[in-house]
Amino acid sequence: QPFCTLLFLFFLSIFPQFFSFMALEGSKVCLECSVIASDPDVKVEWILPDMSILEGRTDKIQVSDIGELIILNATLSDSGLYHCMVRSKTGMDLIKVSVKVGPNLGDSARLSCQATGEPTPRIMWISPRNNAIPVLSDRFQIMDNGTLVIKKITLTDEGKYVCVAQNSAGDDVKNMKLEVESQEPFINGIKGKSTTKVVAVSYQTALLDCRVRGKPEPRVRWVNPYGQSFPIPYLGGRFQVHRNGSLELRGVRKTDEGQYTCLAKNHLGEASLVVDVDVASLAEKPSFAVPNIEILPIKQDNGELILECPARGKPNPDFAWLLPNGTMLLPGVKLQRFNHHLGNGTLRISQPAAGDKGVYRCLAKNVAGQAEKRYALETGRKPVIRGSSGME
Ligand SMILES: *[C@@H]1O[C@H](CO)[C@@H](O)[C@H](O)[C@H]1NC(C)=O
Ligand SMILES: *[C@@H]1O[C@H](CO)[C@@H](O)[C@H](O)[C@H]1NC(C)=O
Ligand SMILES: *[C@@H]1O[C@H](CO)[C@@H](O)[C@H](O)[C@H]1NC(C)=O
Ligand SMILES: *[C@@H]1O[C@H](CO)[C@@H](O)[C@H](O)[C@H]1NC(C)=O
Ligand SMILES: *[C@@H]1O[C@H](CO)[C@@H](O)[C@H](O)[C@H]1NC(C)=O
Repeated sequence: QPFCTLLFLFFLSIFPQFFSFMALEGSKVCLECSVIASDPDVKVEWILPDMSILEGRTDKIQVSDIGELIILNATLSDSGLYHCMVRSKTGMDLIKVSVKVGPNLGDSARLSCQATGEPTPRIMWISPRNNAIPVLSDRFQIMDNGTLVIKKITLTDEGKYVCVAQNSAGDDVKNMKLEVESQEPFINGIKGKSTTKVVAVSYQTALLDCRVRGKPEPRVRWVNPYGQSFPIPYLGGRFQVHRNGSLELRGVRKTDEGQYTCLAKNHLGEASLVVDVDVASLAEKPSFAVPNIEILPIKQDNGELILECPARGKPNPDFAWLLPNGTMLLPGVKLQRFNHHLGNGTLRISQPAAGDKGVYRCLAKNVAGQAEKRYALETGRKPVIRGSSGME
């Protein structure tokens, strides 16, 4: 049995006659309208947002013995203006309570819109930006019964949603306001302080994530191990902070090791994430698993000859080919019948000819060093049987 998340006391004629608050979706909302006057004839009644007087109780809404209005399992459609009406012999007083039921950031929200009519009306939803909402998209879904589901609430989803029920006889509209509860900042889904560890590889790029949620929108910044502070977004040389909060470190160096802190703050609180960055010097000089020199015959059969350069290394090596006459082919370069493919170091020689003979060298290079693979292309020789030219 959930507790009342909200409890309000109204002291007649002492405090202002208008109250407003927010309740979390799914919570139990209790509104107390208590009267100081010790008048046994005082009568308390509740008027619902549709201006009907609450009589008895429903599955959802009830009045307790002491006159509290209780809304069970509050939904967005329970939002609205409620009135507590206090009547006695001497007069009548009316207290207005505005109740807004809202989801938390990141939760999903359902707005229901039930309409009757003949023929059965078609339900359409208009977003706060005045666009018709498609039946299914990555942010929204409209169910068969007209309920609008907002999948993952962000601050940009706040605003007025309009439900339009339409049939051949006409239409009707209902406005609903979606407001998200104020929230202290969260980083990667965690409140308060958190830490994590990241192993970055030398010379490569590291991404440190800092996804921040909160309302009002928290201010976010990154602080590096040297105490330098970077706002969002930030465009530096090797350091960049993207709009989504991720810090990008390019060409990681050993000196980049240390603690990076992402800080998010709004008036409700602060969250921080400490990322401990270790730099692993995993760079490996390029090497070949197979012998460094291979001898291949040139088959002049109008086909092609493929010379591979299967070097391994960390980071992945860059390749260059040297033709027998010393001409260098960089990746992606095609010279007549010679084509150095981009990316994998393969050299393709189409329609090889006797004149292509010679030593072809592939250079594989990365930050840790370089290695070389050679192919010696030889023209094939017609078989000759020793001694076959002489007579026995
Ligand atoms: C509250 O409503 C939600 C959504 O309609 C439902 O899943 C949940 O079971 C309800 N909880 C209670 C206690 O009625
Ligand atoms: C509409 O349909 C959805 C999914 O079938 C259901 O969860 C929801 O309770 C329905 N709403 C109403 C108002 O019937
Ligand atoms: C943040 O944005 C950058 C650049 O667009 C992207 O590379 C990175 O994957 C994003 N991070 C997250 C957590 O979405
Ligand atoms: C080297 O050989 C290639 C392929 O046969 C040829 O296209 C290029 O002109 C030659 N370069 C020189 C300087 O001879
Ligand atoms: C290299 O790339 C080319 C072009 O994409 C492809 O045709 C070839 O098969 C690749 N070679 C290897 C060894 O992956």
